[in-house]
Amino acid sequence: MAKRVLVLNGPNLNMLGIREPQTYGSQTLADIEKACIADGKAVGLSVECRQSNIEGELVTWIQQALGKFDALVLNPGAYSHTSIAIHDAIRAVGLPVIEVHLSNIHAREAFRHHSYVSPVALGVICGLGASGYKLALHALAEKL
Ligand code: DQA
Repeated sequence: MAKRVLVLNGPNLNMLGIREPQTYGSQTLADIEKACIADGKAVGLSVECRQSNIEGELVTWIQQALGKFDALVLNPGAYSHTSIAIHDAIRAVGLPVIEVHLSNIHAREAFRHHSYVSPVALGVICGLGASGYKLALHALAEKL
């Protein structure tokens, strides 16, 4: 059976395409999600995509991934820099998570340099735009 990967995007990522295109690119979230499904399929993964602006909803989805998904690709948006709850949820389920950021968070404002997710992630990809999701899926296809 194909391994199942949940691709989660956090707050404001539903605004991609409109939101600061010089930083986040011109692709919409729908474009990225469509590519994730196709890129996953190409490497034998079954991919489901969700987005939420609500921290607790992301926490619930991470919890519910246990038993339903084999791994997650997660762009936590600004919650990367604030959310101990998302950090704890990832630890609680113990599923492999690849953290993705479209922008290079280390080359931006100081408040973006720290991520609560990175210490509990299998790997972190940032600064490569939408290609980051594809790279994360390829890495998971090899690891799983
Ligand atoms: C982001 C980086 C975060 O700092 C920011 O709050 C986002 C998007 C990225 O993909 O580059 O919303 O996660």
